Amino acid sequence: MTALSPAASATTAPAPVTAQTPIIEISGGAKVFGSFAALTNINLSIRDGEILTLLGPSGCGKTTLMRIIAGFEDLTAGSIRIAGNNAAGIPPERRPVNMVFQRYALFPHLDVFENVAFGLKLKGLAKAEVNERVERMLHIVQLDKFAHRYIDQISGGQSQRVALARALVNRPKVLLLDEPLAALDLKIRQHMLAEMKRIHGETGATFVYVTHDQDEALILSDRIVLMEKGRIIQIDRPQDMYARPRSLFAAKFLGETNLFPARVTEKAADRTVACGSSGIRFTTTVPTDAQVNAASVVSIRPESLYFHTDDPLSQSGEGTVEDIVFIGSRSFYRLRLDDETRLRIQVQNNSRLALPSVGERVTFYWDAENVAILPAE
Ligand SMILES: Nc1ncnc2c1ncn2[C@@H]1O[C@H](COP(=O)(O)OP(=O)(O)OP(=O)(O)O)[C@@H](O)[C@H]1O
Ligand SMILES: [Mg+2]
Repeated sequence: MTALSPAASATTAPAPVTAQTPIIEISGGAKVFGSFAALTNINLSIRDGEILTLLGPSGCGKTTLMRIIAGFEDLTAGSIRIAGNNAAGIPPERRPVNMVFQRYALFPHLDVFENVAFGLKLKGLAKAEVNERVERMLHIVQLDKFAHRYIDQISGGQSQRVALARALVNRPKVLLLDEPLAALDLKIRQHMLAEMKRIHGETGATFVYVTHDQDEALILSDRIVLMEKGRIIQIDRPQDMYARPRSLFAAKFLGETNLFPARVTEKAADRTVACGSSGIRFTTTVPTDAQVNAASVVSIRPESLYFHTDDPLSQSGEGTVEDIVFIGSRSFYRLRLDDETRLRIQVQNNSRLALPSVGERVTFYWDAENVAILPAE
């Protein structure tokens, strides 16, 4: 672990580090550029060893938050602690953190090997150890054969892997990865995702990962931080954020969903009821911020709706099949409800149960735990 500077440790006694101490802790964090609030009220505890993904639209503040963790920017307000110690004013090179930039800067006058070896040589490691660690890392990112090419003699995707290797070879406690796979094609991306998980498991480092790609976030993350306009909207495990979005923004951002305008008619500790304009009643057992009488939106995923059920507690609605799209193992049914809203139902094509045809009037079903009743925006 990087030591604190004498000046910093004189004013801040290092906190005892326990297993529960978050590796990074930001409280009430804000960042203002001129008059523009890039980050507002950021409260984030990053657990030691987890893969945390920052997910959100372009310009929502992901890179800014990473740069603050890395020490390239300071917070305008609030505090940041790294491994229990106040990190304000600690420069990047004294933090146990390495960042792979969105626009990574490799040294064009050095070959691939020397680019990866650079940090280790700077630390004064013995030549044999440098060689061994660089070779192993080049093997991991599958660039063994390119070790002696210059940066302008390799592809964009290969450069991206050099940047990854260059950061990982330092074995940082925290690795900040800003869209590290963006320039790679799908096949290498999938391979690199699996590699990233393996490397994470091997190193025990904390990964903070930025992506635009929902699938990448769902596959890779222990937890996802969903951001919008400089604020954190929701922090959850991927499966929980997908199943229980707490806002319309979260429901729309992650995965596909059906949305119905509705009004809340009843709210109790264990259930909330909302009525859609088509007369359909939705009851959910999922906690909701929607208030009685407030305009709301009901969200149900296409795979949470079905044409058959044995469960007497299932809820139901009726509609007419307008269109069926067959895509191999699955089909998507588009239904028209009585108020002209449309919804999509995903079915698996391996069922022996009869499925409706176009033009047929049908009943569809869903379960209370798959209904999210969200405040309208
Ligand atoms: N140095 C700066 N000066 C002024 N504004 C800035 C500066 N850096 C970032 N911003 C602004 O802050 C906002 C957040 O930028 P940031 O780069 O963090 O977004 P992002 O979420 O990483 O977006 P993307 O997904 O496009 O990379 C943007 O509106 C950006 O223009
Ligand atoms: Mg960015």
